[in-house]
Amino acid sequence: MKITVIGSGYVGLVSGTCLAELGNNVICLDIDKNRIRSLKKASIPFYEPGLEDLIQNNISKDNLSFTNSYKEALSNSDVVFLCVGTPEDKSGRANLSYLENAVGCIAEYLQNNPRNLVLFIKSTVPSGTCNLVQKRFEQLLKESSSQVTVASNPEFLKEGAAIQDFMSPDRIIVGTDSKFVEDVSEILYRPVNWKSNRLKFVSIESAEIIKYASNSFLATKISFINEIAKLCEKVGADINEVREGMGTDPRIGNSFLYAGLGFGGSCFPKDLKALENTFLDNELESLLLRASLDVNNLQTEYFINKILAFYNDQDLSSKVICVWGLSFKPETDDIRESISIKMIKTLAYHVKHISVYDPIATDNARKELETISNITFQETSNKAIDGTDALIIATEWREFWNIDVEILSKLKDKVIFDGRNILDKEFLTSKGFSYFGVGR
Ligand code: UDX
Ligand code: UDX
Repeated sequence: MKITVIGSGYVGLVSGTCLAELGNNVICLDIDKNRIRSLKKASIPFYEPGLEDLIQNNISKDNLSFTNSYKEALSNSDVVFLCVGTPEDKSGRANLSYLENAVGCIAEYLQNNPRNLVLFIKSTVPSGTCNLVQKRFEQLLKESSSQVTVASNPEFLKEGAAIQDFMSPDRIIVGTDSKFVEDVSEILYRPVNWKSNRLKFVSIESAEIIKYASNSFLATKISFINEIAKLCEKVGADINEVREGMGTDPRIGNSFLYAGLGFGGSCFPKDLKALENTFLDNELESLLLRASLDVNNLQTEYFINKILAFYNDQDLSSKVICVWGLSFKPETDDIRESISIKMIKTLAYHVKHISVYDPIATDNARKELETISNITFQETSNKAIDGTDALIIATEWREFWNIDVEILSKLKDKVIFDGRNILDKEFLTSKGFSYFGVGR
């Protein structure tokens, strides 16, 4: 099938490349000219495991291309995926201006080149948006013979595992009331849906809610376990044991029950706030969503207080702190809503200097932290720890899990604040370290 993807970001670029890999002919559009220039050379604007190779393969097979031009992007498409960002605005609602801009450009093209199109909205949009976009097209195209059928097709891609999530999805949700769109979806997704049917057709309204409800539920699981972790610390329980004791119940499951610094990223915080506003816009109030957000917001402060308490009778302003991990999670260079970055911005005022290391997110973090003067970005975890007093583990990159105790012994105060509970508390305590996890 000939496919156009509008918005070549984390969602659009992965979806487009995977659709090309599945044998479709895909053209990805982006308004960012630099991004398109780099993509034409298969140089990708962010880190996603396996994506660069997949892009190179599909460019060489001539079934993946990139453009800034809507005319070129739409000229021979049967299906369009809308994947522009819907970041939160200052009220906490989704900013739909990019989406509106894209809709306008598509309509303008169709006014001059009459065609029928199926448009899947993959961007995360508040309830009711897809129907509004459908009406907008009917309005813009009422003088034209073109027709756009809008459907909702939310994404469930986790950064760092996005290709695998696309190629072996737990579910494929298509919100539509059109039999034609169902037929198109069956063809499009057949290569990733042949083992067992994961393709679910629901109403457009349900599809929009499924996305927000899924992300909000996962975020709430995390806030729940982070609250339980605080209780564990008070009563001497271990949150890892509690998780294991809970997780074998299939109704609970053991994923997304890892206590730590809390959730960040471009989705959970944004989607929780957007959904909370959808409740308010429908004269409802969600206590749970607000509580999940509040617990998460307090988690960083809770963690920093551990550091302040440990140094309570010493002068923290003379201390040099090492921080490992800057990205919001491992296997990505994305620092959007990274808890590590938030924590560093607060900590910098309390300490003498901060020495940081991240395997791949340093360049993005440098920009974000340019106003902080007492910080040094190091090339390796070993260099970062040299000459420091205490270590904070903020992102659970694989390379931090089995760090040699010789390296940790460089810490002058032999104290470790493990924000992601990845180190062996018993072993380190036996070696004379003061170890602080979350709920341990
Ligand atoms: C995606 C989904 O779109 C968003 O709804 C979800 O909540 C998070 O994941 P993402 O792919 O991360 O967003 O957005 P981003 O990485 O910002 O990429 C969006 C791309 O769209 C950018 O490259 C931007 O230049 C492009 N864009 C924006 C267009 O091509 N046209 C526009 O009119 C606006
Ligand atoms: C999330 C959803 O998982 C995905 O389905 C959706 O499409 C987009 O949003 P992503 O934001 O990429 O994916 O990362 P995810 O792996 O969900 O982690 C989100 C945050 O939760 C990270 O900051 C991570 O550190 C944190 N987290 C995750 C925990 O604190 N504990 C956990 O047990 C799991």
